[in-house]
Amino acid sequence: MRAVLCKAAGGASSLSVETIARVKPGPDEVAVAVKAVGLNFFDTLIIEGKYQVKPPMPFSPGGEIAGIVSETGAQVRHLKAGDRVMGYIGHGGAREEAVVAARQLSLIPPGLSDEIAAGLSITYGTTLHALKDRARLEPGETLAVLGASGGVGQAAVEIGKLMGAHVIACASSDDKLAFCKSFGADEVLNYRTQNLKDGLRSLRQDGVDVVYDPVGGDLTEPAVRTLGWGGRHLVVGFAQGDIPKLPLNLILLKNASLLGVFWGAHTEREPELHRANMDQLLAWAAAGQLKPHIHATYRFEEIGEALGAIARREVKGKTILVP
Ligand SMILES: NC(=O)c1ccc[n+]([C@@H]2O[C@H](COP(=O)([O-])OP(=O)(O)OC[C@H]3O[C@@H](n4cnc5c(N)ncnc54)[C@H](OP(=O)(O)O)[C@@H]3O)[C@@H](O)[C@H]2O)c1
Repeated sequence: MRAVLCKAAGGASSLSVETIARVKPGPDEVAVAVKAVGLNFFDTLIIEGKYQVKPPMPFSPGGEIAGIVSETGAQVRHLKAGDRVMGYIGHGGAREEAVVAARQLSLIPPGLSDEIAAGLSITYGTTLHALKDRARLEPGETLAVLGASGGVGQAAVEIGKLMGAHVIACASSDDKLAFCKSFGADEVLNYRTQNLKDGLRSLRQDGVDVVYDPVGGDLTEPAVRTLGWGGRHLVVGFAQGDIPKLPLNLILLKNASLLGVFWGAHTEREPELHRANMDQLLAWAAAGQLKPHIHATYRFEEIGEALGAIARREVKGKTILVP
């Protein structure tokens, strides 16, 4: 079978597509004929050895997949050959057949495409966990989303609206903000042409209730300064590269909370909650209430181009890879 391989830490141009031997699933595993792979920002880091998880070489990138079960291990009960499945697998998705722990997979409801299903786990899973389980976002509250046109950002705009929040989408260009509006953002703020703190304060004199922050760097402190009484700042990621440091008096003065979000660990530590969240996301997507935007679909051989677009901040929504 064909597989994208990372054989040494390096940029996307050092990835190769090679023919490798098929792997048989173990007792609790299933083999999945991969139809679509969701690529994410962390794929740009994992191939350079700069991500918190460092898989042994060679490995295939691609942390979320959709496909068809081709073989099941002896102890697998809830899946059978021919089932359409999707799920988060960490890495190893960019190959024609992936071997995965069966508990990581959910059935794809009829009517949902492989491309949409492949991109639902990580960005939407992270965001539902962040907004529902960590921030406990309430209907009528104000949610400010940074990097709002990116993968997790788009998910936060959509899920925030589904949870009844008033959503302010913040991003670096008017083109990206028009995209956020098309996904339901109530208000928008361009943080390249406008100061983030002043802009959010002019939109909400009482402060915002929840900040969703996947960007970090020099955006975090101004965002924390706009929190209202009892506000919550969700630490989701550091796409800008720098991990910010904060004066903690800002948290004390607003009775505020700083909330970490580590979705990958949550899926391992709280598997039942994770499965319930995935069921909720699949139901919303099948009913057309979530409309993940596919930025582009690339072939295995084009993975360098796909990861380059993510690294250059060109992507709106999800980037998909197909065999
Ligand atoms: N905590 C978790 O469990 C979890 C789960 C998933 C993802 N994450 C993290 O969340 C972050 C975003 O992931 P994503 O998949 O949504 O990425 P993405 O689609 O590439 O979006 C990231 C957004 O960040 C902004 N950005 C600012 N500076 C950037 C830079 N130097 N390079 C790239 N983007 C930059 C861009 O928006 P503007 O141009 O509008 O600023 C971009 O749209 C990453 O750090 C990722 O590791 C964390």
